[in-house]
Amino acid sequence: MSLTTRHAIATQDSLNRVFTVPEDKESTLSRIEQEISENLEGFLQSHIVAVEKDLSEVEKDFADANIPNEPIFVSQQADFLLEKLVSQSVHTASPSFVGHMTSALPYFMLPLSKIMIALNQNLVKTETSKSFTPLERQVIGMLHRLVYENSDPFYTKYMHDQNFALGAFCSGGTVANITALWAARNNAFAPTEDFAGIQRSGLTGALLHYGYRGAAILVSERGHYSLKKTADVLGLGTDNIIAIATNDDNQISLTALQQKCEELTKDKIKIIALVGVAGTTETGTVDPLNEMADIAQQFNCHFHVDGAWGAPTLFSKKYAPLLAGIERADSVTIDAHKQLYVPMGAGIVVFKSPSSLSGVEHHANYIIRKGSKDLGSKTLEGSRPGMAMLVHSGLKILGRSGYELLIEEGINKTHRFAKMINNHDDFELCNEPTLNILTYRYCPKWVLDHLAHCNEASRVAINDLLNRFTKYLQKVQRGHGKAFVSRTKLTPARYDYQSMIVFRVVLANPLTNDKILQDILSEQVVLANDETEHTFMAQLRALVQAN
Ligand SMILES: Cc1ncc(COP(=O)(O)O)c(C=O)c1O
Repeated sequence: MSLTTRHAIATQDSLNRVFTVPEDKESTLSRIEQEISENLEGFLQSHIVAVEKDLSEVEKDFADANIPNEPIFVSQQADFLLEKLVSQSVHTASPSFVGHMTSALPYFMLPLSKIMIALNQNLVKTETSKSFTPLERQVIGMLHRLVYENSDPFYTKYMHDQNFALGAFCSGGTVANITALWAARNNAFAPTEDFAGIQRSGLTGALLHYGYRGAAILVSERGHYSLKKTADVLGLGTDNIIAIATNDDNQISLTALQQKCEELTKDKIKIIALVGVAGTTETGTVDPLNEMADIAQQFNCHFHVDGAWGAPTLFSKKYAPLLAGIERADSVTIDAHKQLYVPMGAGIVVFKSPSSLSGVEHHANYIIRKGSKDLGSKTLEGSRPGMAMLVHSGLKILGRSGYELLIEEGINKTHRFAKMINNHDDFELCNEPTLNILTYRYCPKWVLDHLAHCNEASRVAINDLLNRFTKYLQKVQRGHGKAFVSRTKLTPARYDYQSMIVFRVVLANPLTNDKILQDILSEQVVLANDETEHTFMAQLRALVQAN
């Protein structure tokens, strides 16, 4: 046996090989590929370590900021990735990982992604994408039709016309929201005979020309934080994303919205847009979109619906009415990497008017020339991958009826879970689900009964303790690695808007079943009664008995 160790070296020959020759069948990389294609679930199960390791420990494996001078073999890197990276990643596809919006993917997405990467198309311009450009326009058209249901002649006329765009494809919900409100801002301060428009003159020039003191965007307090980023990059300032109070059902308060709009108008603040949320991140709530459309019309502003999570509910004949009014929105965000079950990152924003995006058009002489079909002229991002191919495949392979089933089963399951929580003596349901997201907390019936009639001081003290308890339980359950729910903060009216930490569950993985959900509750009960060092239960008893 030879004791000499082989080292990789950088030569023209080895580079040529790296660019052209697949790895040997016996190599680690080939074994990984084979394992993934033969049994993806098995691969994830066996390589991701379930029990949590502290992030500061994990960081030690990624501490070196030096780019190595000498190359290593692909297999060496594959071994490193398996051991240090894959093992400490998160099993987002697990049916008991129900805490976030990232879940399992249909298997066909994997080999299709490989085709996408092999082709490495760049959607910024047709010279590097050719057929991918009409495909992307078709995908945008299909999702536009899902929302707006225009006629065949409308799509024949506009879908592939270089002078129009029915929407923009991007990397996710954040960029989709930015794109929608960028167009809204530019259209609100459009060029006139004696004004070059905000795109050229900037915000100060626009406000001066139009006679405003400022500009704002209004959304409920449950709006996603990407809207703050939007206000920041659009130069409006985050204070000008105005958070409107919600009612007991976590929906925007229409009275507060109307009042704020009147106040701003009187104050000479231009309302650029109202944003309705179809599926809030924390509670899955849908705002009253029809009524919001009326208010937007009254104040002559853009109406955007952030349907990053909830827009695919439109696939379900049973639940689509929950989104009534979405078809009146000027723009709608849909995150394909959420409920269209496409890998990250794929987001889309569709616009009711095919000319809305003209307000944000940019050209360059060497590419995206005026009049070309290059999509890069109307997207915030430059180079972009051919992700539309995966959305197209999802829409075709699963079809409307496949998505309908996924959506309906997710919502039905969430309602069943809500019932389980309501029927359980140890838990309090914190929001009645609309879609497939709900919140709850550990709160035994004897505490809940006490909270219903105790004085304010006792209620505040108990809720504070329960907040710490919820945080503790969520962390411990996550650490054990069997199941994962996330946590968030709400301010429910029934507790006089006191801050309340709750478990948050998102039920999008079709493989999550009622037994798994029951087990999650059972594990939480065991953890709550098992905790030795924190003695939350003893403190709870003392607080209840004291009042
Ligand atoms: C309602 C809503 N809008 C926007 C976003 C942002 O989407 P992304 O993370 O894809 O940028 C999210 C993400 O959770 C969301 O829930």
